[in-house]
Amino acid sequence: MNQAIKNLFHEHFHAEPLIVRSPGRVNIIGEHTDYNDGFVLPAAIDKSIYVGIGRRNDEEVHLYSCDFQEHHICSLSSVVRSDKSWPNYPLGVVDQLQKGEFPISGFNLILGGEVPIGAGLSSSAAVECAVIFALNELFDLQIGKMDMVKMAQKAEHTFAGVLCGIMDQFASMHGKNGFAMKLDCRSLEYEYVPLEMQDVDIVLLNTNIKHSLASSEYNTRRQQCRQGVEWVQAKHPEVKSLRDVTLDMLDCLVAPKDATIYKRCRYVVEENRRLLEGCAELKKGNLAGLGERMFQSHEGLSKDYEVSCPELDFLVGFVKDRPEVLGARMMGGGFGGCTINLVKKSAIESLIADAGQAYKKEMGRELTAYVARIGSGAEVVNEYEKSY
Ligand code: GLA
Repeated sequence: MNQAIKNLFHEHFHAEPLIVRSPGRVNIIGEHTDYNDGFVLPAAIDKSIYVGIGRRNDEEVHLYSCDFQEHHICSLSSVVRSDKSWPNYPLGVVDQLQKGEFPISGFNLILGGEVPIGAGLSSSAAVECAVIFALNELFDLQIGKMDMVKMAQKAEHTFAGVLCGIMDQFASMHGKNGFAMKLDCRSLEYEYVPLEMQDVDIVLLNTNIKHSLASSEYNTRRQQCRQGVEWVQAKHPEVKSLRDVTLDMLDCLVAPKDATIYKRCRYVVEENRRLLEGCAELKKGNLAGLGERMFQSHEGLSKDYEVSCPELDFLVGFVKDRPEVLGARMMGGGFGGCTINLVKKSAIESLIADAGQAYKKEMGRELTAYVARIGSGAEVVNEYEKSY
């Protein structure tokens, strides 16, 4: 990938680029908890988005996407949302840097990579993180990693229109080979948890359904959680988010008002508890205990939070009674993308073959499977002569 980006940069911009990569992520448990001040347990994967970047002598931004084979050109004085989707991720980052009054000038940028788009592996966060990391390096802006994470998240809010939490950008920036990260999304304190899984691997089964509903429904879920918190706050003003809410509070103050909002909030409160328990099981090496909570998490996401889809439900249902699968659930925002499965290494091939056949027969679609290898976070990947 590195070499391909380099060649394309030469071809389009006739210069030597600085190359940066930032990975996609998996999330073991803790879904839709990040924007509720809760916990998440993501890990970076060994598939990344790559950015080749170099300075220009003017105030223009020239972008090129390898996937779309398209250019996008604008001036730094007129960075606005584009009608096309892909330029908005880098442009959103540039907009954040400008709002923060960081000194940047014109640049050329090539975007490419190996994180599949729309599979729930956070290719968009990987793009944002790769771009901000690259600009930070190129212009020596001295922005710390956590601040880059927050700006990348903000870029997604303003230019992609998804009011996402902080998990994906955090994981892409802070990933560490061999580790998951238990992140407290309120304090932003985090702990690296070794992913020592002996005879088990993480297998991703991709429904190949692109989550097109995801952004509007995602923002609706966020509002519903907010509404639940407001109802609780009327009696408990100290409550700031669902993190502070108990099931009793929900029973008394939310259930009588609205059954849907009650279900949404209950899921989040339960998912935080499942994460803490599941993480403790992982630390003890009890993968079956973690896996059980993953199945429960799926149940909640499907029935209470209602962000699953028939294809995701089918895949989780299919593996549920197979002894070689310790746990499975849909992963990420929902409405498509992948399921994450803990599978005994010796049975991965047969599981993928069987699931693929059944999926084709029942859902009429092709299944794609990956064994997820854990990788490390954003970094510069080539030697680059700084020209300042
Ligand atoms: C998307 C968002 C994350 C998170 C997940 C659901 O991936 O970008 O912030 O909310 O959905 O857990």
